[in-house]
Amino acid sequence: MMENLKIGNLHLKHRTILAPMASLTDIVFRRVVDEIGGVGLMVTELISAEGLRRKHKKTLSMIKSFDFKTPQFIQLLGSEPEPFIDAVKYIEEETDFSGIDINMGCPARKVIKKRAGAALLKDPKKIGEICKKVRKIISIPFTVKIRLGFEQENVFEILKVLENEGVDAVTVHFKLKTDKYGSKARWEYAERIKERSGLKIIGNGNILNRDEALERLNIVDGIMIGRGAINNPFIFVEMQNEMPSSEYKKDINERLMALVEEYYPPELRLLRIKAFTRYLAFGRPYVKEIKHKIYASKTFDDVKQFFRELDF
Ligand SMILES: Cc1cc2nc3c(=O)[nH]c(=O)nc-3n(C[C@H](O)[C@H](O)[C@H](O)COP(=O)(O)O)c2cc1C
Repeated sequence: MMENLKIGNLHLKHRTILAPMASLTDIVFRRVVDEIGGVGLMVTELISAEGLRRKHKKTLSMIKSFDFKTPQFIQLLGSEPEPFIDAVKYIEEETDFSGIDINMGCPARKVIKKRAGAALLKDPKKIGEICKKVRKIISIPFTVKIRLGFEQENVFEILKVLENEGVDAVTVHFKLKTDKYGSKARWEYAERIKERSGLKIIGNGNILNRDEALERLNIVDGIMIGRGAINNPFIFVEMQNEMPSSEYKKDINERLMALVEEYYPPELRLLRIKAFTRYLAFGRPYVKEIKHKIYASKTFDDVKQFFRELDF
């Protein structure tokens, strides 16, 4: 079993990574997971390289920092080298984020139309060009997140390009862009990829509980967990055999609510907390009723009060 994971000059304490998830891995959720601990690295929601290059207010608000224990990467989205170059320079020089990740897996139609995200998988030459230029300009850790291919598997070709350009590690979501939402990740690729690529491989897809997580860690250098960590942000400490008590879970819930209040103006709080319905209802008796209560709540304070009174 591999013991630790080094990405560039960064030693991760754990071989686990919180996946980037748009409108979920914002500063509130990353702070909560950082406080719970047990995780090696976290990645922001996807951030437009162009927005960062132009210092758009909204973009800058998405990369607010905090005093973290767990290294934090910014995930960038774009299609051409130039915005990436300016964005990564800014991140290295002006922020305390520990590294960057480039998104080459997002399947959203509006992203594909702009030839970003998973669309890049169809253009290995462009991937090479982007990575060469980014690598030249920064010394902080640099990773890329890909899929097995767009509509046809070409992961081995892409990994070769990424290896040639000196990328520090690659996350592979073991699915094609065209695979149906809800279909299972093809972990059968993991061993072959490990055998054939010299890169550090972080495996991603359908890791939903601690036992699955521990098993997957035997195959790849690190694992990235998305929905499993939204359902249960304690998954990372559970992997270290620490089982959270009910009181602690209640405290963490209070903390989540307090952070929503700290970072979002009153008119956005209800929407923000609704995004975390999965977590708030997960693993409890009466999941359906709890979900319904959250969705039907008219104010943020209603949700807060409901959880104060709920037995944990
Ligand atoms: C709501 C949601 C938002 C996501 N946003 C991003 C994103 O911004 N960047 C990215 O690379 N992947 C994004 N993903 C994909 C996840 O990072 C991950 O690859 C995928 O969910 C599979 O991992 P899982 O089965 O552990 O959830 C998102 C997934 C979900 C469910």
